[in-house]
This record gives sequence, C-alpha cells and structure tokens, in this order.
Amino acid sequence: MSHLIWGGADCVDLARAYGTPLYVVDETIIRARCREIQNTFLSRWSATSVCYAGKAFLTLAMARIMEQEGLGLDVVSGGELLVAQKAGFPMSRVELHGNAKSERELRAALSLGVGRVIVDGIMELEVLSALADELEKDVNIMIRVSPGVNPHTHSHLVTGHLGSKFGLPLEGELLRNAVCLAVTSKHVHLKGFHFHVGSQIFEPDFHVESVRRVVALVDKLQKEYGIATDELNFGGGFGVGQMPDGAPGIKGEPHVPVALFTDAMMSALTQECEARALSRPAVVIEPGRWIIGTAGITLYNVETIKRLDGVTYIGVDGGMPDNPRPSLYSAPYRAVLANKTDDAQLENVSIAGKCCETGDILIQSELLPSSVKRGDILAVFNTGAYNFSMATNYNRLGRPALVFVKDGASYIAAYRRTEEDLLQGEVVPEILR
Ligand code: LLP
Repeated sequence: MSHLIWGGADCVDLARAYGTPLYVVDETIIRARCREIQNTFLSRWSATSVCYAGKAFLTLAMARIMEQEGLGLDVVSGGELLVAQKAGFPMSRVELHGNAKSERELRAALSLGVGRVIVDGIMELEVLSALADELEKDVNIMIRVSPGVNPHTHSHLVTGHLGSKFGLPLEGELLRNAVCLAVTSKHVHLKGFHFHVGSQIFEPDFHVESVRRVVALVDKLQKEYGIATDELNFGGGFGVGQMPDGAPGIKGEPHVPVALFTDAMMSALTQECEARALSRPAVVIEPGRWIIGTAGITLYNVETIKRLDGVTYIGVDGGMPDNPRPSLYSAPYRAVLANKTDDAQLENVSIAGKCCETGDILIQSELLPSSVKRGDILAVFNTGAYNFSMATNYNRLGRPALVFVKDGASYIAAYRRTEEDLLQGEVVPEILR
C-alpha cells in the first residue's frame, strides 16, 4: 500500500513517531508562497510590503520563517506580540491590530516600538495618545476603516461591511474626528488607512471597490484639509481551496495566485490616483490563510467504524478541538487514508470527531477506501490556517503536537499538550478540600 508523503516525509512514520492527532506543516510550501509574493507583488509594484496575519497560524517557528522571508507580522493581541518578541522578530516590522486593545497591550506596543498600531476607534486613539505622551514615545498609526462592502463568503468571515465591529465607516464624523485627533496628537503620527473586507474570498471585486472608496477618502483629506496619506493597508482575505495543489498522488485544486488580488488592487489604485492627481501611497497587504493554509495537514488515528443504514461514520481521535472550522463555518475539508493512498475501492463516509457534540463532524461526505479499519491514519488537507490557532481543550482532549517537515526531515515546533498539561494551573480550592 502506498503512503501519503508530505514535505518529503512519510505520514505514517510521522504518526508513529509523534503520535496523533498531529499537525504537520510543510515549510517548503510556506516559503514557495512567500517567493510568489516576492515575484508577483513586491517586485512588480514599487513601495509595497507584506505583513503576514499571525492569527492564521503563529508559533515561534512560523515567526522565524516569516522573519527570514523578509515579511512583516500582523499581531492582534499581547499574546501574539509576545510570540513575535520571543522569536526575535524585528519590532519595526510588527503591526498591532485589535478592536478592543487593552492598556497593557498598547503600553507593550509603545515600549517595544512596533512599526504600526492599527487604530480601530476614537477611544483607543485617545488612550494611545495619552500613553504615548506619558511614555514620550512616538508611534506610527493607521486608522482602520470599514469600506462598506459585503463580499461573498461565510457571514462570520465578513468584516468590512457597514455596522461591522471593526474600524470606522468611511462616511461620517467618527472618522473625521479620529483623523483630527490623530493629526493634533503630539506623539501619534497618522500614516494612512487600513481596511480588511473579510476572509476566504475568491474574487477581487470587493477588494477593488474598497480601494476605490478609500482613495476617495484620501483625495478628500488632501484637497479639503491638506492632509497627505503616505500609506494604505488592504488587509488580507485571499482564499484557498480544499485540496492542496501539486502534492504527490493527490488530485489538487488550482492554486489561486496572489496576483489575482494584488494586480487588480494595484491597478485600481494607480488609476484612481492618476485620475485625481494624487501621488500613490505605499501599500501593505496582510495575507494569512493564503500563506499557510495549504501547507498544513492533520493526521488522525481511525478509532471506530460504524456502518448505519445510509451512513458510515469513521470516528477519529480528534475533531472540533483541533479543527473548529467545520462546526463554526460549515467549512469543507478533504481527506485520504495516509496508509492506503492507492486503494481504489472507495465508499462514501462521514468523518466524525470524538467530541460529545452532534455537530462534531469533520467531513460530512468523503470517499475513503472501503478497507478502512481501526488503526488506519487519516490525513485531512489544508488545515494550516486557523486550526492550530483556534484549537481548544473541549472534552479535555489535550492538544496535538505540531511538526514541520522539509525535504523529508521533520522537526517539532510545539509539543503535544497532554491531559496532565491541561491540569496545569488548576487547584482544589481550600474550601472544597
Ligand atoms: N488582516 C486583518 C485585519 C484580519 O482581520 C485578518 C483576518 C487578516 C488580515 C487575514 O485574513 P486571511 O488572509 O487569513 O483571510 N477564523 C476564521 C478567519 C477569521 C479571519 C479574521 N481576520 C476562519 O477560520 O476562517
């Protein structure tokens, strides 16, 4: 029987060596994405840069890879900022996001000297400005705006619509007041504006429309108030399919080139700026999923097979705690048996997670070898993004280990968190002894 090879490594060997469930990330795919960004975005358009959106998947190892690839890092909490710091990531390339930043997080950003704070509202700006004065630290900011577009994606993944909790509407006095406050603050320096329209998006139209709307704002600020915009940040959101492209023995889906989005946005920006006689601001993008999504797979042990009338359940040793996306967003995934990739006798099955929860179905319908048996290794594809980072301990299942693979070698990036580990920090209170 032939085995699934990932990053040159035999997945059955990986499962034996590290145990299951196991997150496996192919470093080569991540670096290939970064090269594509370099070749088709950074080299093609001047004054551009990229901040990887760490919320998709952030570990010390990943921060090191992003650093080596020359990208910046978008962090969204004190926790993510700490990872950047511990990984030795240059703070000038870090931007701090968040719609409810705490004073502690803002203080940390100022003391560490992050490159940008992406300010989400006026109250945050007031606090930041006061802290910057108190600490006598200068800080470069961008103001997040909601461009009022509604892309086609799961409703939980739309972020740039009117009424969104993120940013300030392009029209209206909230944004005007924020700009006023920013330009009159002593230590706060307004560099420009940020938008992020949503996630897992496959056509560039809403990004492009947002670019047009934001340039109208830039134009207005320049002409009416003499305020120049140096920089625009177009966020991320570029989608990935369910099957990786080009992995050996797998019929993948065509890869969505980043240039599908970046060329469309940059052309629109250039056009709009020329038409309005504005000089083109520098541009930042923030892809998360697009960089890491297809690099990751998850390996599970098959525990049970239950053949009912009309449905066969394959029960595995993980589920919604290591991948909450099917239950949160009805996200579709694909899988194979890693130890039987050439078995052509297939049957339709549902892959059930092991949680006490009806909705814990990892894959509603998949074709797997009908020879499937307890102890087989199931590999679920494209779990690189928002799996490790959104994992929970539901049912106290522990957390999978994380290994990186490259050219056949593997190295551990996060040890398994065992049931014992989950007890760390818990006590029996005196009163209950
Ligand atoms: N920039 C900002 C400001 C964001 O809020 C996000 C994602 C990104 C960049 C990166 O988006 P990406 O390129 O990865 O689509 N948990 C959800 C995704 C939530 C995304 C939130 N913001 C999921 O599992 O699909």
